[in-house]
Amino acid sequence: MSNFHSSSEESSSVLQIWGKTPLSGHVNISGAKNAALVVIAGALLCSQDCRIRNVPLLADVTRMGELLSALGVKFQQHGDVLDIDATHISHSKAPYELVSQLRASFFVIGPLLARLGVARVPLPGGCSIGARPVDLHVRGLQAMGANVQIDHGIVHAYVTGANKRLKGAKIYLDYPSVGATETLMMAATLAEGETTIENAAQEPEVADLANFCRAMGAKIRGAGTNTIVISGVPSLHTTDYSIIPDRIEAGTFLMAGAITRSEITLSPIIPDHLTAILSKMQEIGIRTVMESPNRMRILPKQRYRSTDIETLPYPGFPTDVQAPFMSLLTLAEGDSVISETVFENRLGHVPELNRMGADIRVKGNHAIVRGVPMLSGAPVVGTDLRASAALVVAALAAEGKTTLQGLQHLDRGYEHLELKLQKLGAKLQRVQEDTTTEPIPISVDSPISST
Ligand code: EPU
Repeated sequence: MSNFHSSSEESSSVLQIWGKTPLSGHVNISGAKNAALVVIAGALLCSQDCRIRNVPLLADVTRMGELLSALGVKFQQHGDVLDIDATHISHSKAPYELVSQLRASFFVIGPLLARLGVARVPLPGGCSIGARPVDLHVRGLQAMGANVQIDHGIVHAYVTGANKRLKGAKIYLDYPSVGATETLMMAATLAEGETTIENAAQEPEVADLANFCRAMGAKIRGAGTNTIVISGVPSLHTTDYSIIPDRIEAGTFLMAGAITRSEITLSPIIPDHLTAILSKMQEIGIRTVMESPNRMRILPKQRYRSTDIETLPYPGFPTDVQAPFMSLLTLAEGDSVISETVFENRLGHVPELNRMGADIRVKGNHAIVRGVPMLSGAPVVGTDLRASAALVVAALAAEGKTTLQGLQHLDRGYEHLELKLQKLGAKLQRVQEDTTTEPIPISVDSPISST
């Protein structure tokens, strides 16, 4: 079965969504994209083979696999299981074509440097949500003894000395960057001596990476807090590891349930990972109950209150759920203020939501959302992954048909989104851009089609 739609299909396809259909039933939450991508890079640390389970079938995972293959590593994908054998790494240079398509591919710099004493990785560049520099990654690696030169857009990092090993260091991050914490933690697993990362990111994906590294024999403590201590070991061994559930996908489906006033259930989830989202849901009047330790039911209401949200590093409100939550607040009673503090350009969904009848004004990094009684379907364009998810959420509650363009973003981050929504009873279909047909009923048992 094809795991996602090819890039030519993505660019010429649109998602048609007919709103105001109540949802019901259960949705299975996939493995976390952002944990899987970094764990795949982390497998480069292992001088034996590794098995990684519960990996979502996403375009970004396939690209990460292509990158590992380009480094001479054996990479095989069977459904949600990956087999990676990095016993031999034959190249230390990551190809620009792959890094430029996927920022997470910059993560290979830490493991390559730790394993080979050399890494050449192109600067990933900015993307639609912000400039996204890698200065914190680079400064941390330098503190661990790496020489780093940036020439013609390529970061060339190498370690001198007889054993070419990085040295443990005390590193303070100016900002608790998820990516920099992950890069430095991976690099430190094979360094000589002890590394301390202070003001580290506390995201569950960082803790998942640490657990994966520990399963391979790394000595890491404190992951999931703001101080991580890593005692370097000479090598890491084989493991069989399962990725945590995707808290951002869960958050997106909670928004889909809330906006359509539907009592859906979700599993598997780790409720502790959703605390900030659940707290804001409660503030506006939505309750959830745990039916079992990893299965949640959402208890929506007909009317919601407004609230204010500020995105922050974990355990604060996640920037990745800011856009879908904004869709929900467009239909709440009163004014909400949403402040995006993590990325400088993550309000691309605002003009598109306004095209659907929302009343949102942007001032700097703040969006002032004035609740409206209804949204109406319109042609809209997703500018990034979470903006696209927000438009899908809004479309589910809108009167009439929404046509969403820019599906390449959705396919990067949500596994089988259409199929999962169809199973819940939503009316949507992916079609070639000029097709205007009514929805074709799709059997929930049929594999996802690339229409
Ligand atoms: N930053 C720097 N210098 C650095 C690194 C980061 O200034 O060296 C800044 C960034 O520009 C940004 C802020 O720090 O303004 C936060 O960036 P961070 O490094 O924490 O994020 P990231 O590692 O680039 C990951 C996720 C993002 C998620 C953020 C925040 C992956 C592959 N990506 O990005 O996920 O939004 O953490 O939680 O793990 C998504 O899934 O849609 C997505 C964008």
